[in-house]
Amino acid sequence: MIPLSINEVCKEFPDGTRALNGVSFTINPGEGTVLLGSNGSGKTTLLRCINGLETATSGQIYVDHIDVIEAKRRHARKALKRVRLQTGMVFQKFHLINNLGVLQNVLFGSLGRTQNPMKMFSIGAAKEERMRAMACLDRVGLADLAKRRADTLSGGQRQRVAIARVLMQDPQIVLADEPIASLDPKSGREVMDLLWEIVRERNLTVVCALHQLKIAQEYGDRLIGLRCGNVVMDTPADRIDADQLSHLYDDDQSQSVPAVPLEVTP
Ligand SMILES: Nc1ncnc2c1ncn2[C@@H]1O[C@H](COP(=O)(O)OP(=O)(O)OP(=O)(O)O)[C@@H](O)[C@H]1O
Ligand SMILES: [Mg+2]
Repeated sequence: MIPLSINEVCKEFPDGTRALNGVSFTINPGEGTVLLGSNGSGKTTLLRCINGLETATSGQIYVDHIDVIEAKRRHARKALKRVRLQTGMVFQKFHLINNLGVLQNVLFGSLGRTQNPMKMFSIGAAKEERMRAMACLDRVGLADLAKRRADTLSGGQRQRVAIARVLMQDPQIVLADEPIASLDPKSGREVMDLLWEIVRERNLTVVCALHQLKIAQEYGDRLIGLRCGNVVMDTPADRIDADQLSHLYDDDQSQSVPAVPLEVTP
């Protein structure tokens, strides 16, 4: 299993905005972690730093024993490719290619693994790959929509396709950034059920940013709370209390808040 470890990570954007202020935690393999925090607390920035979409300013992020920040700095393409292969992303807005078919979108999941990317999307796409993509679609219950254009699907169906794309990628870590924020409550639950079923059956590590506290407590093993780019809560989901949560979401985010050391069980 591939560990994920984050040590004193800071991110300052070129305009001077400090999004992360020394974030540290280690995620145990197979752990379902939910990131909480109000708008602007740094959740998306952290997820993007983990898979190298964004370059943190300082600190270390280890994915599969690779220091992602160092690899980004050195433009170490091989190491970054390994990090990206091992970290699947699920986004609030799905990030599908709208004018392509559902199956083709799923095939994109294995883009990083193939030697000849163009071949994958042609009629000549390796039969084996197409069969694997069909199996991933079947797993999310959408095999019958394989030929539909992505932009004809509902939000819930699009997110299922995005999950099938992650399955196709076959990573060890799933980073989900508000995967149900664009969905109605029923579709949102269905997507969470599916995502969690899949991460459990494959024993994947998941870090999922959410705004829905009830869902966070229900699905997460561990809850990490960010406030102004600081970790202010790190606790098993079944030990959360109302005070911790109100502190996370109260209005005055201008003061720097020290991290509250909480006992965390593996
Ligand atoms: N490209 C950027 N340039 C400058 N500042 C940025 C950039 N991206 C994010 N930020 C800032 O970094 C801070 C953290 O933003 P981030 O999007 O990570 O928060 P978040 O917790 O994901 O919020 P939300 O819940 O609204 O998605 C915010 O102050 C935001 O304005
Ligand atoms: Mg965000």
